[in-house]
Amino acid sequence: MNESIKLKSVYKYFELAEGQKLTVLNDINFTVSAGDSLAIIGPSGSGKTTLLGLCAGLDAPSEGEIFINGRDITRLNEDERAMIRNRELGFVFQNFQLLPTLSALDNVKIPLEIRGNAPNAAKLACELLEKVGLKERMQHFPSQLSGGEQQRVAIARAFIGEPAILFADEPTGNLDEETAGVITDLLFGLHKEMGTTLIMVTHNNELALKTGRRLTLMGGKIVEDIYHQ
Ligand SMILES: Nc1ncnc2c1ncn2[C@@H]1O[C@H](COP(=O)(O)OP(=O)(O)O)[C@@H](O)[C@H]1O
Ligand SMILES: [Mg+2]
Repeated sequence: MNESIKLKSVYKYFELAEGQKLTVLNDINFTVSAGDSLAIIGPSGSGKTTLLGLCAGLDAPSEGEIFINGRDITRLNEDERAMIRNRELGFVFQNFQLLPTLSALDNVKIPLEIRGNAPNAAKLACELLEKVGLKERMQHFPSQLSGGEQQRVAIARAFIGEPAILFADEPTGNLDEETAGVITDLLFGLHKEMGTTLIMVTHNNELALKTGRRLTLMGGKIVEDIYHQ
C-alpha cells in the first residue's frame, strides 16, 4: 500500500522567553497508508491541532521530516508547500472558516480557482453542494446558513480538489449531536467514495471509532496507537 503521509522524529518547540523552550510535540512517528483513516484524540493542550497543522503544511516542525505522498514537505519553501496544500490536501476546521463575503458556491470554488484555468469549477461546486444536501442554498452567504450547513459547505470545499489527504480538526466540535451525525456520515461517505486518506482530531468517540485507527496524544507524545475493525 502506498504511504500517504509519514512523520519521522517530529518535534515542535515554542520559544517562550530567552532560553525557555516549550516542547509541544515530542518525537512523533507514524505512517498512514493511502485511503486509510486515523483519529487523533487526547486532552486539550496535548498538541493535536499543532500536529494537524504540521501534517497539512500550515506550519513547519522544529525538527524531523514529514512526507506527503513520498515528498518531504519540510524541505520545501512556503510557495511550494502552498502548492501541495492546494493540489493534494484538504482541510476542515472546527469553526468552518468560510469567507463571509462569498456565497456557498463561491466558497466551494476557491480551491479550483487558486489552481487557475478552472472552467469546470462552477459545475463541480454545484455537484458537490448537491451531494452534501445544499442544492437550495448555493447562493446563500455563510451568515445565512446554520452551523451544520456551513460545515457542509466547508466539506464540499475540502473535497472539490479531490485531495489525496483530508485533515479535519474537531469537525463536529461546534455542532449539536444530531448535526454532528450528519457531518460524520458525510465525511466518511466522501472519504470512502473518493479513496481520500482521512486524518481527524476529535473528542467525539463515535467519530473516532469509525476510523480504522486511533492515536492518543498526551503532553505532546503518542501514548497509544490502536487499530480497530
Ligand atoms: N504559537 C504558540 N506559542 C506558544 N505555545 C503554543 C503555540 N501554539 C500552541 N501552543 C501550545 O501548545 C500546546 C498544544 O496546543 P494545541 O496543539 O492547540 O493543543 P490541542 O489541539 O490538543 O488542544 C498548548 O499548550 C498550547 O498552549
Ligand atoms: Mg485543538
